[in-house]
Amino acid sequence: MAPAHRCSRIIGTGAALPERAVTNAELAQQLAARGIETSDEWIVARTGIRQRYIADASLTTTELGARAARAALQAAGLEPAALDLIVLATSTADQIFPSTACLVQDELGVAGAAAFDVQAVCSGFVYGLAVADAMIRTGTYRRALVVGAEIFSRILDWNDRTTCVLFGDGAGAVVLEAADQPGILAARLHADGSQSRILCTAGRVAQGAVHGDPFLRMDGQAVFRLAVNVLDSSAREVLDDARMRLDEVDWLIPHQANVRILSATARKLGMPESKLIVTVDQHGNTSAASVPLALDLAVRDGRIRSGQNVLLQGVGGGFTWGSVLVRL
Ligand code: ACO
Repeated sequence: MAPAHRCSRIIGTGAALPERAVTNAELAQQLAARGIETSDEWIVARTGIRQRYIADASLTTTELGARAARAALQAAGLEPAALDLIVLATSTADQIFPSTACLVQDELGVAGAAAFDVQAVCSGFVYGLAVADAMIRTGTYRRALVVGAEIFSRILDWNDRTTCVLFGDGAGAVVLEAADQPGILAARLHADGSQSRILCTAGRVAQGAVHGDPFLRMDGQAVFRLAVNVLDSSAREVLDDARMRLDEVDWLIPHQANVRILSATARKLGMPESKLIVTVDQHGNTSAASVPLALDLAVRDGRIRSGQNVLLQGVGGGFTWGSVLVRL
């Protein structure tokens, strides 16, 4: 007999940040000691970033992910044992294997649920959410944890001012549950591997050593152009799928890369900036963690309310992009 529930909905959100916030002025001072010039004015004008959180040497992606997961489970009123699926998005896994999802599962003190990582860089959370929704729709899974967790500060070249000022560390999570009514209204994912070089960390571990470049490299202007275009097309695609008009969307949460990308996206879509959730000023770009961090913040501060339509959008290395339209 077909299962009764064929949709999924978000029933809890959570987030976690490292203790230490580093302001632009502090970062500029640290970089000056290496002979690298930057300033609060440059960073704010070009990116909108004012500070980012940086993990100390002992903090792991697993720990950040588990903290966000616990907060999401608490908001959902569930114990970890209720989960039957854990999907974790990261590009800064603690180990080559096992997956960080398995390590988070162990931190939560449960066993048995399926657990795996998704690698789609800054689109990772949106990819993970779409995958978990599809798995719940099969009727086989009922309660999924979807986490985005990153410690990007460990793959930044602190001698490259064009990238090291942009990123930060953090984690966000949601709990998805099978439901009769959506929930997740529409989800679409895309990639273009021919653009892999414009944003990458190309190094690999082999024969006991790192081969190739272990740092994040980016062609900022190419990323900017591509990001604005695909965020626009992908938003229109999911709205079409859900037969929803743009003015029915209450909140837009694009990947938090740069305030100029966020504003350009809202402008291109014809959406008022008052509907944009912006956290990049506080968190920097936290890659796969940025969308769930922003979602959790806006749910907890009361801006996003039950019944509202929220458009979540990812874009990043791969090149990957996608959107998930959600009714909270
Ligand atoms: N401080 C001071 N000066 C800087 C810094 C810095 N941190 N970084 C670069 N500059 C200098 C450059 O050297 C250059 O100097 P020059 O003119 O003497 O050569 C000048 O500033 C302008 O550099 P551009 O690269 O042309 O600056 P641009 O306006 O393109 O801004 C930025 C750079 C912010 C990276 C922009 O291209 C951008 O936002 N790109 C989008 C990429 C992004 O946000 N990526 C995040 C990851 S991707 C993702 O998550 C999807």
